[in-house]
Parts: sequence; C-alpha cells; structure tokens
Amino acid sequence: MPREAALETLRRVERGALARETLDGVLRRRKLEARDRDLARELVQGVLRHQETIDSLLAPRLKRPLEKAHAVDRNALRLGAYQLVFLDRIPARAAVHTSVEAVKVAGRPRATGFVNAILRRLASSVVNSSAAEPGDAPRRALPRGDGTWAIFDADVLPDPAAEPLAYLAAAWSCPEWLIERFTTEHGEEATLGILAAAAARPAVSLRPAPGRRAELQAALTERKIDFEDEGPCLLVRGAGAVSELPGFDECWFAVQDPTAAEVVPLLSLEPGEGVLDLCAAPGGKTVALADGVGAAGVVLAVDLPGPRLKLLEREVKRRALAQVAVLGADVVEPEHLPRGLKSHGDDGFDAVLIDVPCSNTGVLGQRVEVRRRLDGPHRIEMLAEQAHHLLLVAASRVRAGGRLVYSTCSIDRAENADVVHAFLDEDSDFDLVAEQLTLPIAGRRGGGYAALLRRTV
Ligand SMILES: C[S@@+](CC[C@H](N)C(=O)[O-])C[C@H]1O[C@@H](n2cnc3c(N)ncnc32)[C@H](O)[C@@H]1O
Repeated sequence: MPREAALETLRRVERGALARETLDGVLRRRKLEARDRDLARELVQGVLRHQETIDSLLAPRLKRPLEKAHAVDRNALRLGAYQLVFLDRIPARAAVHTSVEAVKVAGRPRATGFVNAILRRLASSVVNSSAAEPGDAPRRALPRGDGTWAIFDADVLPDPAAEPLAYLAAAWSCPEWLIERFTTEHGEEATLGILAAAAARPAVSLRPAPGRRAELQAALTERKIDFEDEGPCLLVRGAGAVSELPGFDECWFAVQDPTAAEVVPLLSLEPGEGVLDLCAAPGGKTVALADGVGAAGVVLAVDLPGPRLKLLEREVKRRALAQVAVLGADVVEPEHLPRGLKSHGDDGFDAVLIDVPCSNTGVLGQRVEVRRRLDGPHRIEMLAEQAHHLLLVAASRVRAGGRLVYSTCSIDRAENADVVHAFLDEDSDFDLVAEQLTLPIAGRRGGGYAALLRRTV
C-alpha cells in the first residue's frame, strides 16, 4: 500500500526524521512490490518538494489552520493534493479515494468525510493540470517543477508585483530568507534556476567506472533504457530500482550526481598514491578515489561511527576494494587520525579530500526535507564555522607538495569560498590551484563547490 507507506513516512519526517532513510526503513518493513515502492518514493519526495505550495493551496479551503489538524489528516491532505496538482498519471477520483482510504487505515475513520470534501473541492478548482505556458494570470498558475503549470480558476499565489518574495516562496516552496540569500549572491535570474532545480525530480545519475562507459551505454541501449550525458555521468529516468539496472552487480557504475563526480578528478590522482578521505560516508567519492589510485594505492576513508559508516563499509565490500580502509572516527578530534601512511613514508598523505557536512543548498531537489530543516542564516554560519575547523584538520595531514580538495554541496559563499580564503589567509603553506562553483540545473545536476589547494612546503 504505497499511500500508507508514504503517509507514515511523511508523519515521521514532520517530527524530524530524514526522508530517504525513513522511507527506506518503512518500505523494507512493509515489503511492497517494486512498482508500489516507486510510487511511495514519488509521493514522499513530491510532497516534501512542494509542501509549502501544497499547504497554501489547502489553507483557504480549511476552517482551521492546517497546523492544527491531526497529523494523519494533514499529511493525507498533502498526499492527495500532490497527486491532484503535480502528478498526471493518477486520475483525480483515484487520488481522492486512495487518500481517504489511507486516512481510514491510519485509524482516523471519522476524518474521511472532511478529507474527501477538501480534496474534491481542490480537484474542481484545477482548470488545466499541465499547461505548457503560465498564461497571463500569474497568480493562478502554479509551476509544477517539470516545466509545466497547473492553472486554477482563482488566485492561489500572492501578487508577484506587490510581494515578489512571498510569491516566489509560495510558488517554489522555499523559505523567503533562503530566496533572499540566493538572490543577493547569485542574482535574480540564477535564483529562478536554483528554485526550478529545487522543484524538479532529479534523474538517476550514473558515473561509469573507468573504462566502462561504452559498455554501460550499450547495455542500457540493449535494455531500451533511455539515457542522456551530463558531464562525467549518464542520466536515466523512470528506470526503476538502481540494483536492477544492467551493470549493477558488475560494478560498472556508481550512483553519483554529475557535480559531485567532478570533485575527485581535481586531485589528478596517480596509481599507487596514498589518499585520506575525510567525511567519507556513504562513500560516493571513496569509490572514485579508489579508482584513481588503483589496486596499488591506499585510501583511508573516515567518518563518524554509525549507520552511514556501515553503508560505506558495505559498498567497499560489495566492490571488493582492497585498497580502501575504513575508519570510524571524529575528524574534530585529530589525535585519532594517522599523520600519514607507513607504506608512503608516514609524513602526510599525497592527497586529502574533505567533503564537509553543509547546508545542502545545492541539492534541494534531492534532499527534499532540507529546506525545512535549515532554520535560518545562523545555521549556515554554524556549518561554515565547523567546516573551517574540519579544513584545518584536513590540511594538517597533507604532505609537502601534496594536494587538498575541500568540497561541499552548498551554493552559499559562507560555506565555500569564504572558508577556503579565510584558511589561505591564515596558512601560507598552501596555494589555491583551482576553485569551482556549480549551480544546480533542474533535473540534470545538483550544485556544489570544490577548491583544489597545494601544500608548498
Ligand atoms: C557531505 S557528507 C559526505 C559525503 C561523502 N563524501 C560521499 O561522497 O558520499 C558529510 C559527511 O560528514 C560526516 N561528518 C560530519 N561531522 C563529522 C566529523 N566530526 N567527523 C567525521 N565525519 C563527520 C557525516 O557523517 C557525513 O557522512
């Protein structure tokens, strides 16, 4: 029952749980079939991606504020509204009926009439659920995140001329403070692109293993799975579970965003080198580092002990990466980190990657709950401070002449260039070699930042 799984997940996410991890657990426990799993995933991610927009569609149709409604009713309304406004493949009657059923199954039979009435009213207010153009009444046109618009019979959005920020926040489900920050830093046009990327369904991005690109393309073609090139990756859409794709068992690819996949190549690794991978879990970049140094090299991958580290260990084992050692440790306490590798002279690593925890503002379309967890600019300042500290530790483990890459999936200067330049101002042993900021592109790639530094002495 995909709606019931989605409803349970949404309620838990509302109480602070992480969407992807929670849904994975719920799906495992409920033992859904592949098609139902895909629908549950689509529903959870879709609701969370458009939650503020959905809430502002529901609010005027309710007698009491949505926050005061029972959590089951509130999230069932969101589920129903998402299907009515943002999904084409589910007929309106089925969207309403299944949401009402989910309310019943969740133990709220007395709320079914209310949920049914609100959703039916919402359904009847949609004039065109997938218009190619917004038309000339912007307050009635809701962007759906796939380039189309849902047109309503009355105004559903604030006036863009009178309240531009409130309009963007409601249309794109993004907090006003974040939109203001994007606009100040990247300008108005780029901000629209960032908001569109945050509202779009991301493709599944496959980074082919070295020398396997052609083989993977041929296998996808043979299975009639469409793909597109994006930087170092191949994008596939609607192809079901990743583990069912051709080449999964043979490890022909890693699932990695194209922007993330462009980080490790900055280190220009040589076969046999010794690399320290800090903040490594779940291991997307660890696999690329292992490819870079080959079987004769060494990668020491470090992250906090816990479930993410277990995922990293599992992936290293699945790929039989004998050159990777995994260490559960807190990078903030560097006494637990080796100074270098005995096999490589013990005086620092040839290359160090530090992929710091960040605001995730470059990947709002993928990490769908993040925009609600970021509770204000102070959160970004705290993350930037932590990143600065982590960078100092990472720098202390680079050998003379060695390379250091600092990376984030944030597009906020405070966590990116500001951290790196403050570090360079303090530490004259390092030069800045290259710096790249990538803004997200709807449905194609996330955003992020990476800087390559070299230790001079
Ligand atoms: C951006 S994610 C890393 C993604 C990873 N490099 C990859 O490519 O799959 C940041 C990681 O930093 C880890 N982390 C946060 N604080 C840490 C600390 N003090 N010591 C070690 N790891 C930490 C988190 O557990 C998280 O896995």
